[in-house]
Amino acid sequence: MPPLSNSIPKTKLVRVPLELNQQTVAKALAEALADVNAANTFAELKTLKSSLVGESSQLAQLNALIRDLPAEQKAEAGKLVGQARAELNQVFAKREAELEALALEQQLQSESVDLTASPKVLRQGARHPLSLLMDQISDVFVGMGWEIADGPELENEWFNFDALNFHPDHPARAMQDTFFVAPVENHLLLRTHTSPVQVRSMLERDLPLYVLCPGRVFRTDELDATHTPVFHQVEGLAVDKGLTMADLKGTLEHFARVMFGPEAKIRLRPSFFPFTEPSAELDVWHPGAKGGPRWVEWGGCGMVNPNVLLAAGIDPEIYSGFAFGMGIERTLMFRNGVRDMHDMVEADVRFSQQFGSVI
Ligand code: PHE
Repeated sequence: MPPLSNSIPKTKLVRVPLELNQQTVAKALAEALADVNAANTFAELKTLKSSLVGESSQLAQLNALIRDLPAEQKAEAGKLVGQARAELNQVFAKREAELEALALEQQLQSESVDLTASPKVLRQGARHPLSLLMDQISDVFVGMGWEIADGPELENEWFNFDALNFHPDHPARAMQDTFFVAPVENHLLLRTHTSPVQVRSMLERDLPLYVLCPGRVFRTDELDATHTPVFHQVEGLAVDKGLTMADLKGTLEHFARVMFGPEAKIRLRPSFFPFTEPSAELDVWHPGAKGGPRWVEWGGCGMVNPNVLLAAGIDPEIYSGFAFGMGIERTLMFRNGVRDMHDMVEADVRFSQQFGSVI
């Protein structure tokens, strides 16, 4: 026979007593009681139940031997084993109740909820004032029946410069202003203004055309109090039959009043942009300016240069257009008293929260 090995299942080996007498009963009882007391958890005791008090227990097996005793010994033996089993059952039941109560208590403790603990505070976010301002500007123009247009930030050089009548040697193309994207032969760049959307809109949409394009633009500036290499502009373009500078002025005047109050007015100063002719700098009379009402430079504008209309396949003999563009950051600065560009780019929610949800 092979030696007892690990292959024997780790159940309790049942020792069959050879004899039924006071010692074997006392020993079986003592062992069973020791096992009951050694069990530390309700679950552990439960697994021992059948081997300690069930039909396979030692005392049950001793009990079975009574059957084979001579009749006159049965009563005494029955009493002996019966008392032992009764005692064991009693101790078992008591221990079982104790351990069950303990298990319940542990469960209650582990599942307890501290109703006095303070909850985790979810901090509320806020929309960025630049987004709010772009939305508000869009609303002004949507209210006049204009459409909102957008275009890619990674733009083709042709849309950003050539189609807008920039001469190949125009200084604005030079490396110090424009982020060109390698390889240079691909003629891709980060758009330096929203004006390429003028050309895209003219190519993609039907005439007459009234579109507004708010969007992100890029120039190789260092971040300081008044500059940032990534900023926003809003571009307006109207192309229709018979549009004149008067339409441009009227549109901008309405825009200015919505943004700066009923006393706001605008002023155009002659200027130059390759894509407008004539071109003008746009100033706004800002009645609520910090330190008193004053003229503030706001943006650029003009009548769409016929060369730009031609580049987009529009006959300048039949149609004319006006366009304007201004910086959103700059507008937020002088309109809402933001003094440092850093505040706008640092994304501190406390900055945004000051503006609420209506700007
Ligand atoms: N795109 C010009 C700029 O970035 C602004 C502008 C837009 C001027 C439309 C005239 C017409 O400076």
